[in-house]
Amino acid sequence: MQVTDCTFSAFYTSTELIEPMAIRQILEFPDPRLRKIAAPVTVFDAKLEVLIDDLFETMYLAQGIGLAATQVNVHRRLLVLDVSENKDSPQAFINPSFEIIEEELVEHDEGCLSVPGFYETVARPSRVKVSAQDIHGKKFEIEAEGILSTCVQHEIDHLDGKLFVDYLSPLKRPRIRLKLEKEHKKSA
Ligand code: NI
Repeated sequence: MQVTDCTFSAFYTSTELIEPMAIRQILEFPDPRLRKIAAPVTVFDAKLEVLIDDLFETMYLAQGIGLAATQVNVHRRLLVLDVSENKDSPQAFINPSFEIIEEELVEHDEGCLSVPGFYETVARPSRVKVSAQDIHGKKFEIEAEGILSTCVQHEIDHLDGKLFVDYLSPLKRPRIRLKLEKEHKKSA
């Protein structure tokens, strides 16, 4: 779009603890770490707030409208997004899930910070009810439609190791993969 139980020590690896930078590196397709299935967040503490701040900073800098923890190699179920025009409506969703309210599919040209430079049309349910927890662990629900519906579904996919390119034809996906692999070799 232009879109288990974890202990404290398992959540915050030593590199994350000593990492002073707020901007995190975004993994790019076809990095196999993007295929990991994220585990639920169970600890709601100051460290979680730091992680969420980092996700927002990383997302805004990259001019994305959504970012899942998976994309910065943290395999816990949380995502951030801001689909507002003025980039002034940050929303964080922890342990998110959704139910389809309206089966009708709507198409959006989706892009992804993990698949830079590619935009492809993907059809998804137009309205969903999203259940999640906030930064303090409090449960909430929202109804999402339009770009917000698409974005939330796209980001929850990341937590399940799925990418928008998985919805594309078997011809398109390998082409994107090849191009990005070439880019990665060039910059390596
Ligand atoms: Ni994405």
